[in-house]
Amino acid sequence: RLKIATIGGGSSYTPELVEGLIKRYHELPVGELWLVDIPEGKEKLEIVGALAKRMVEKAGVPIEIHLTLDRRRALEGADFVTTQFRVGGLEARAKDERIPLKYGVIGQETNGPGGLFKGLRTIPVILDIIRDMEELCPDAWLINFTNPAGMVTEAVLRYTKQEKVVGLCNVPIGMRMGVAKLLGVDADRVHIDFAGLNHMVFGLHVYLDGVEVTDKVIDLIAHPDRSGVTMKNIVDLGWEPDFLKGLNVLPCPYHRYYYQTDKMLAEELEAAKTKGTRAEVVQQLEKELFELYKDPNLAIKPPQLEKRGGAYYSDAACSLISSIYNDKRDIQPVNTRNNGAIASIPPESAVEVNCVITKDGPKPIAVGDLPVAVRGLVQQIKSFERVAAEAAVTGDYQTALVAMTINPLVPSDTIAKQMLDEMLEAHKEYLPQF
Ligand code: NAD
Ligand code: G6P
Ligand code: MN
Ligand code: MN
Repeated sequence: RLKIATIGGGSSYTPELVEGLIKRYHELPVGELWLVDIPEGKEKLEIVGALAKRMVEKAGVPIEIHLTLDRRRALEGADFVTTQFRVGGLEARAKDERIPLKYGVIGQETNGPGGLFKGLRTIPVILDIIRDMEELCPDAWLINFTNPAGMVTEAVLRYTKQEKVVGLCNVPIGMRMGVAKLLGVDADRVHIDFAGLNHMVFGLHVYLDGVEVTDKVIDLIAHPDRSGVTMKNIVDLGWEPDFLKGLNVLPCPYHRYYYQTDKMLAEELEAAKTKGTRAEVVQQLEKELFELYKDPNLAIKPPQLEKRGGAYYSDAACSLISSIYNDKRDIQPVNTRNNGAIASIPPESAVEVNCVITKDGPKPIAVGDLPVAVRGLVQQIKSFERVAAEAAVTGDYQTALVAMTINPLVPSDTIAKQMLDEMLEAHKEYLPQF
């Protein structure tokens, strides 16, 4: 039976992971789930861990749940390691969101200056986990959800020997469910050819029961009276219908930050003054969730978890793990080494693309070149991720400034330097490499 170690086990998403494992126990016999956290997360770990134990007991499934602050013990002999931690917590995220706003720049968890700094804080920790894995579970798969998932996967592929790594995001599954809802059909009848990068992925073609319906779906999303496809954390301001029809591929919810920068910035500034930034809203949501989790009679994943932007991402993780374990050879969109699947991206880089999931991992499905209209932006974000990953590994100031400046959401070298300096200071506790 399998051993899974989950780093950042105190996450409010853990019940979803546990639900996913319970649902699949017949095909994915997990004997032990080790939830790992750090001292600051001990209370959350205990609350969510107790709920996890009630869930497996109620379901009558023999998965042992272990709670620990000892990462090495959890990693020892693990078959799969999943990572879902947040260095610096939501407080650090709130700074990533608020500081750029002062400079008239988008403040976002995974995009622009916020995404850069989340990467700078996260990548050293991931590299450290991989050093432990090389020693304690050299054959294990690393399934990473920790954001920025694309940049993190890039860093792992470029700076470590860990080949068994997959980056995962719920955006593609969210787009598929959103499209199914627009068409009024079950999601399993919808297939989308995904290609691009994490939070920069496009649906190149959409199929219903195997018949291409891309134009119809774009018409539906472009229609001003319809709400488009989005996530709980991203406001849907609609799209210019002629732009979308001209583009003729499905953007992901995060593309709004690039194609609607002014409107998204105005929304963020307004929210920051009234209800708070997304991190501040999530702090409140999290309090409510953990109050529910404390209830000794609760033994299922509460539906309130669906208010989080990451809803269903753990379910995607369980499907992925099961397909690797069972060599299912089904198609799932994941972050993996490109290997030539997308012609306009370097073969050694991480991309988010449909893959056949085998026991030897994801095999990306070739898509050729991306459409010319989106190719440049995707390449620019890939350059940003690469330079950012290099800055995270080396702690080099000038490299970090270059990363900040080449991000398309940042207007100038001077503003980039001001934001960089302020954010390096604000986050210095979590940036030992600088
Ligand atoms: P969270 O703030 O609840 O953090 C989860 C846990 O990580 C906390 O209990 C915290 O104590 C712990 N932690 C912090 N630093 C750690 C470290 N060095 N080692 C081990 N544990 C540590 O965060 P969350 O909202 O549950 O999100 C967790 C992560 O998953 C974030 O990085 C978030 O961006 C990401 N996420 C990704 C997706 C996706 O689509 N890939 C979806 C949702 C969330
Ligand atoms: C989306 C993304 C995740 C991100 C989340 C934020 O689902 O795919 O990568 O972490 O939203 O959600 P939150 O509820 O934390 O704002
Ligand atoms: Mn994501
Ligand atoms: Mn087409």
